[in-house]
Amino acid sequence: MSDDIKIMLTEAEIIARVNELAVEITKQVDNNWLVIALLRGSFIFAADLVRAMHNAGCNPQIDFMTVSSYGDETETSGKVKVNYDTKADVAGKKILLVDDILDTGYTMQATVELMKQREVADIKTAVLLEKPERHEVDFRPDFVGFEIENKFVVGYGLDSANRYRTLPFIGYIE
Ligand code: IMP
Ligand code: MG
Repeated sequence: MSDDIKIMLTEAEIIARVNELAVEITKQVDNNWLVIALLRGSFIFAADLVRAMHNAGCNPQIDFMTVSSYGDETETSGKVKVNYDTKADVAGKKILLVDDILDTGYTMQATVELMKQREVADIKTAVLLEKPERHEVDFRPDFVGFEIENKFVVGYGLDSANRYRTLPFIGYIE
């Protein structure tokens, strides 16, 4: 299945960086925070990240959410459809929002906007990957694993038509 996939980031590179990120995050986030993983793409990153956070001394609560953004040129914020919502009421909570990749930035920007409307006490954002060339909105995540070139990537939870999520590395289809 993975024959035509070229490796961009190896499993070892990802694990090492996720551990570093967890240490960085744990300097700013404590046990009173709630981690919200945006499914489905971030499920493996989030699972590794929260265990690395535990090893760095931080044990936040965990929740999940699925959103789709309606990003286009005329609507730059606050436009996100919630397909599956958090179990927790986020009002008054400190939130670490985790996603797999920041591409145009619409999804993260709109989800942060939604969280602010829900009156969270604080919000920080972490993404494993970021494609700087693709940004269409003025939004910067607080924590970024890797800046990557403008290629469609799969693996480590990221998919193409719901395939390739199982790959332990990040690859691209040539
Ligand atoms: P954005 O709203 O354009 O930033 O899109 C972010 C979402 O698009 C991510 O959460 C991914 O689900 C998806 N996405 C963007 N680029 C890629 C990619 O290269 N591979 C897989 N999914 C991607
Ligand atoms: Mg996604």
